[in-house]
Amino acid sequence: MAERALARVDLGAIERNCARLPKPLCAVVKADGYGHGPVAPAALAGGATWLAVATAAEAGELREQGVDAPVLVMGALTAEEVRIAAAADADVVAWSEAVAEAAPRVHVKLDTGMGRLGTKDRDHALRLAARPNVVGLMTHFATADEPDDDFFGVQLEAFRQFVEDVGRDDLLVHAANSAAALRDPESHFDLVRCGIAVYGMDPFHEDPAAHGLEPALSLHSWVAAVRRFETGDTAGYGRRWAADERSWVATVPIGYGDGWRRGLTNDCDVLIGGRRHPLVGTVSMDNVTVALGPDTDVKVGDPVVLIGRQGEERILAEEVARRLGTINYEVTTGLLPRVRREHVR
Ligand SMILES: Cc1ncc(COP(=O)(O)O)c(C=O)c1O
Repeated sequence: MAERALARVDLGAIERNCARLPKPLCAVVKADGYGHGPVAPAALAGGATWLAVATAAEAGELREQGVDAPVLVMGALTAEEVRIAAAADADVVAWSEAVAEAAPRVHVKLDTGMGRLGTKDRDHALRLAARPNVVGLMTHFATADEPDDDFFGVQLEAFRQFVEDVGRDDLLVHAANSAAALRDPESHFDLVRCGIAVYGMDPFHEDPAAHGLEPALSLHSWVAAVRRFETGDTAGYGRRWAADERSWVATVPIGYGDGWRRGLTNDCDVLIGGRRHPLVGTVSMDNVTVALGPDTDVKVGDPVVLIGRQGEERILAEEVARRLGTINYEVTTGLLPRVRREHVR
C-alpha cells in the first residue's frame, strides 16, 4: 500500500559500504544513524568493530537494542551524562580533568585545528594522556573533504607529533572521518571513524559511486491527485508557480513536516514512472506539487521517488543538498520522525 512518506533503508548497502571501508572501522551511528534509523548490526556485520555516537543517551539506546560492540561517546558531556555513558559501558572522549577523572575509559582529544571540541593546549593534553584510565588519543579534521586544502596536512602532522610525544603504545589512536579515510591512508592510525560513507553518501559531495559506495536510503511517496491546470493556474502558497500552458499537476503528500525542505520550492525534481518531473510551487508542510506536462500517463497511486532510483533515473542526496545549499548529511539527518523508516535487505 502506498504510504505518504517512507524512507527505505537497505541494510545490505550499509553492510557492503562498511566492507569497502578501511579497517579497523568505527561506524558513526549518531543522530539516529544520520537519519537512517537503527543500523548498528548491519555496520557490524559489514566489518565495523567499533561504534561511535555523540551523546550518552545514544550509547544507552545501542545497549537497549542489544548491541554489545565497543561504543565511543564523542560529544561534550555533563557529569550526569558521564554516568549514563559509564552505565552503558561506553568509552568517552575527554579534554577536561572533570570528565577524565569521572569516566572509566577515556580517549583524550587534542584540538589540532577543528576549533570545536578537545583541548588546544598540547601540554594539557599530554598531562591528561598520562592518566591510567586513558585508552585512546584522537583528533578531528576540519577540511578532510577539501582535497586541495593544505590544512588537513597541518592537522595530521600536529596529531602525529602529539601521539609520538605521548609515547604510549597501549593506546588506540584515531583521527580519520570518512573523507580522511578515503583520501589518505596516513590518517588511518589504529581506527577510522566513518559516518557518511557508511550510509553510501559521498564525503566529497559528488557521486558516491566514485568510491564504490551505495546510497542506503531512498525516499518514497505517491501520487495522491492528478489535476488539470489551465494556463495561468497557480500551485501552492504565495502562487509561486503558474502553468504556462494547459497541463497536468500531481499532488504528492510529503512536505517540510517530513523534512522535505521548503527551500526546494520550485527547485528540485522527483521521479515518477522512471522519469524526472519538476517540483513546482511552494513546498508546504504536508504536500508538494509536481508538473507533469501537457500530456501524461501518470495516475493516482503511482509511486514517487524523491531520493533514490526509479528505472534508469536516480536522484542522490548530494543533488538535493546542492539545491538547498547544504550537505548530504543534513538531507538524510533532516528527515523527520513522521517519515517511517523501513529496513530492507
Ligand atoms: C568526531 C567525529 N568523528 C567522526 C565523524 C564522522 O564523520 P563523517 O560522517 O564525515 O565520516 C564525526 C561526524 O561528524 C565526528 O564528529
